[in-house]
Amino acid sequence: MKNLINKYIWILLGLITSSSVLAQVPDLIFDIEKPKKQIVIPQTLYGVFFEDINFGADGGLYAELLKNRSFEFKQNLMGWKTFGNVSLRNDGPFNNNPHYVHLAPTANEWRQTGLQNEGFCGIGIHKDATYRFSVWARTTGNSEKETIAIELGDLGEDTWGQAFCSAKITIDSPEWKKYTVELTSPKSSEKSFFRLFLESDGEIDLEHLSLFPKDTWKGRDNGLRKDLVQALYDLKPGVFRFPGGCIVEGTDLETRYQWKETIGPVENRPLNENRWQFTFKYRFFPDYYQTNGLGFYEYFLLAEDLKAEPLPVVNCGLICQYMAKHESEHAQIDELDPYIQDALDLIEFANGDTTSTWGKKRAELGHPQPFNLKYIGIGNEQWGKEYVDRLKLFVKAIRSAYPDIKIVGSSGPKPDGEEFEYLWPEMKKLKVDLVDEHFYKDENWFLKAADRYDSYDRKAPKVFAGEYACHASTYGRNHFQAALYEAAFMTGIERNADVVEMATYAPLFAHLEAWQWRPDLIWFNNLNVVRTSSFYVQQLFSHYKGTEVLKLTIDGVPVTGKEEQNGLYASAVWDEQNKCYIIKVVNISNNKQTIKLNFKKKALLGDFADATRITLAATNPRLENSITQPDAIMPKVESISLQNISSPTIESNANSLQIYILHIKH
Ligand code: AHR
Repeated sequence: MKNLINKYIWILLGLITSSSVLAQVPDLIFDIEKPKKQIVIPQTLYGVFFEDINFGADGGLYAELLKNRSFEFKQNLMGWKTFGNVSLRNDGPFNNNPHYVHLAPTANEWRQTGLQNEGFCGIGIHKDATYRFSVWARTTGNSEKETIAIELGDLGEDTWGQAFCSAKITIDSPEWKKYTVELTSPKSSEKSFFRLFLESDGEIDLEHLSLFPKDTWKGRDNGLRKDLVQALYDLKPGVFRFPGGCIVEGTDLETRYQWKETIGPVENRPLNENRWQFTFKYRFFPDYYQTNGLGFYEYFLLAEDLKAEPLPVVNCGLICQYMAKHESEHAQIDELDPYIQDALDLIEFANGDTTSTWGKKRAELGHPQPFNLKYIGIGNEQWGKEYVDRLKLFVKAIRSAYPDIKIVGSSGPKPDGEEFEYLWPEMKKLKVDLVDEHFYKDENWFLKAADRYDSYDRKAPKVFAGEYACHASTYGRNHFQAALYEAAFMTGIERNADVVEMATYAPLFAHLEAWQWRPDLIWFNNLNVVRTSSFYVQQLFSHYKGTEVLKLTIDGVPVTGKEEQNGLYASAVWDEQNKCYIIKVVNISNNKQTIKLNFKKKALLGDFADATRITLAATNPRLENSITQPDAIMPKVESISLQNISSPTIESNANSLQIYILHIKH
């Protein structure tokens, strides 16, 4: 009862407040005009930032379904259950991954020998889909042929342990050889397991057991999960940053990300520990490793598929500065040559002609054409003099070998404060092309920061807003209101597209059962994907980024939520390809508002042909799409008519992002 009374008081208060505010709210006028100096919107403005965090690569985007396929985790049989007569050996055919298993029959024919893999929180299997199992194997006993049986089984309550599809493979050589078999599943199962039995009486060795859906993105072997790439594709990203994030740095130099270890045959790519295994003790995942099966060649291909500029980030000789206890843990200045060489070789790998050492390797992998790399990031969110001293050497070497490559430097992990204030001038001195800024901040910060870039130095390096997301102060997960505040902030990015060359929300992916960090842009389980409201904000800004910034003001002032602007944030662009004005309005107030559009110079005003309005809104600020309701929040597209053609009026709904697309007659 008490709750009910409280509820009514809350509603009543809301009504009183909103009606009194409504009574005071005058109609607003957006003045829209071409700025004195043309601002062309960079193609790269809205992009994606990929890192193997939250099981984003192994267990996520990388479509491999078996965990610890090469038995190289520190606990070599982690992810596996063995039964019968199975032993671990370490003189296998792949020198970087020497471990494998030896299978022999038990003394009692009823006791089976074999092993079972748990996948990543189970193995997701789709009905009617085909899966390709492969294994490197050899016979080791006297007989020439041995048989193994493989099956996918269910962990569902009623069907626990039952196989629902199976196949047999004959191992017919004492030499290591790759065997492949396909399985088509009669049912879907979010959490199945993979099991293998030794069927015959002899002995065998098995290495690199792998299970992939056949239907990967573009049907590639060693491919990527199609539904997750589709989500990226649907964002139309202009830039694709990889492979992180903190994993670039490593917990120590040994575990830093080394791109050269991520190309070539997957069986021999060395495993790396994923630092997100242990970064947060309360989200501890001892089974989190990087197989590097999704490596730099695959990243470049993906960037190409997405039509996004690739932006690789390389280690600059610093390990994670949060983790380092002593300067000596970093690569010292006189030890940097191999690190710098790695960066130079990476550029050659991407762009070099096929006669160059690394260009040739690219061609051998199947891509003789260059990837046309334009950007490279040196270090992740590094800071301090130790960073500047190292960056200096990278800049010198890259400028001299590749003067056209744009270099991205760091401004540290925070968007303000001592480190930030120190680094920006240093970046200017070093003349890097872009400076990476990171901000995981709360609601107030995001709303205030809508005018952050209005006062930035136009002659300084450009900004790469490389990692950002609204982390609500009292609610640590994705929700609509945070997405709305990100949208408010993004109107400021768009207005300042002459300063901000690229911006990427972070992190990108998270497995619903295996995350370390949230909020995230895209959630998934083993079968399905959830596009968050932040995803739709990114998508709408990206699809409707236009080609040229227009000046949009109320009484000569940009619309950045100032007191007299009634909770509105707005930006406007012209789209030359589609001949339309695009106006983005974020209304964080509880009031609907009527806004007149005043296209100041007549030259701007064509006759409007038709207009479209796209609305992103939610019934509750805390609402978010979920695995059971993935479409609770979706952009709604509608055609609208503009009442007064010479001075059209639009409406801005309470708590919404709305995009008005006004086409002009040709
Ligand atoms: O996006 C998660 C982490 O946040 C990144 O790895 C790191 O760069 C930042 O601290």
